[in-house]
Amino acid sequence: MPTADFSGKVALVTGASGGVGLRVAEALARGGATVVVNSRSEESARRTVERLATLSENVLAAVGDCENYDATVEVTRRAASVNGGIDLLVSAGAASRVLPRPFADMSSAELVDAFESRLLPRIFPVHAALPHMRERGGAVVMLCTDAARHATAGESIPGAVGASVILMTKVFAKEFARWRIRVNSVAMTLTSDTPSFDRIFGEDRTFSSKLFTKLAERFPSGRPPTAEEVASVVTFLVSEQSAQVTGQTVSVNGGLSFGGW
Ligand SMILES: NC(=O)c1ccc[n+]([C@@H]2O[C@H](COP(=O)([O-])OP(=O)(O)OC[C@H]3O[C@@H](n4cnc5c(N)ncnc54)[C@H](OP(=O)(O)O)[C@@H]3O)[C@@H](O)[C@H]2O)c1
Repeated sequence: MPTADFSGKVALVTGASGGVGLRVAEALARGGATVVVNSRSEESARRTVERLATLSENVLAAVGDCENYDATVEVTRRAASVNGGIDLLVSAGAASRVLPRPFADMSSAELVDAFESRLLPRIFPVHAALPHMRERGGAVVMLCTDAARHATAGESIPGAVGASVILMTKVFAKEFARWRIRVNSVAMTLTSDTPSFDRIFGEDRTFSSKLFTKLAERFPSGRPPTAEEVASVVTFLVSEQSAQVTGQTVSVNGGLSFGGW
C-alpha cells in the first residue's frame, strides 16, 4: 500500500496486535514514523514488534489495557518518552466482550460491560495522550461502527457507543483545534482480516453470526472491505494529506449499511 511520509513523527496505535490497528501500524512504520504499538499482552506486543521490525527499526511496544485509565496513562507516557511527545494517535483497541444481542436479552451487568468495554478504551487514550500532543499539534483517529448511523437490531449498545464516538469526534475537533490537533473517526460495518471477523464467522448460528452472515451477502461489491482497505483511510486521516479535515467520520463499508427494517 503506498503511504504518506511520516518521518520524524511519533505514532501511538492502540489495538495494534491485530486487525485494522496492525495494518495502520505497518503503514506508519513503512512511512518512516516511530511507531509505538499497544497491546494488553506482553506476548502479543512482542510478536507485533517483531513483525514490524521487517519494515522499520523504530518500533516499540507499550503494554497496557486501555480500559484502565491509569494503565492508559502509562502507555501514553511510554510513547511520549521516545522523543518528547506524541504526534499521531490511532485509537483502535477495544474488546467486544458482549457480542451483538437483542436489548431485551441482555442482563444489566452485560449492558454496563458492553458500554464500558467498547467506549472507555476508545476515549481514554485520547484523554491520556493529550498532554503529550498539545505542544506539538498532531492528529487523532478513533475507530467506530456504522451501527451508530443506521439502526441495526442487536447493536443498540455498539451503535450508541459509536454515536458517542462520532459526536465526541466533532467536540474534540473543536476543543483541540487551539492545539493544532485534528480529530477524525473511521466507521466500519464489517471488515475482513480482523480477529472480530474470524470470531463472528467461527461461531455457529449465534445471533451475531446470523446478523453478519446476512450483512456479508449484501455488499454491493460482493465482499466486505479488508482491514488493509480500512487502514488506508485511517492512515490518510493522520497524514498531512488530510491537513484540512477534522471533526469528520468516514465510513469504509463498500457502500453498504443496514438501513430501514
Ligand atoms: N472488524 C469490524 O468489522 C469492526 C466493525 C465495527 C467496529 N469495529 C471496531 O473497530 C476496532 C478495530 O477492529 P478490529 O476488528 O480491527 O480489531 P479487534 O479485533 O476488535 O481489536 C483489535 C485489538 O484490540 C486490542 N484490544 C482489545 N481490548 C483492548 C483494550 N481494552 N485496550 C487495548 N487494546 C485492546 C486486542 O489486542 P490484544 O489482545 O493484543 O490487547 C485486539 O486484537 C475495534 O474496537 C472494533 O470493535 C470493528
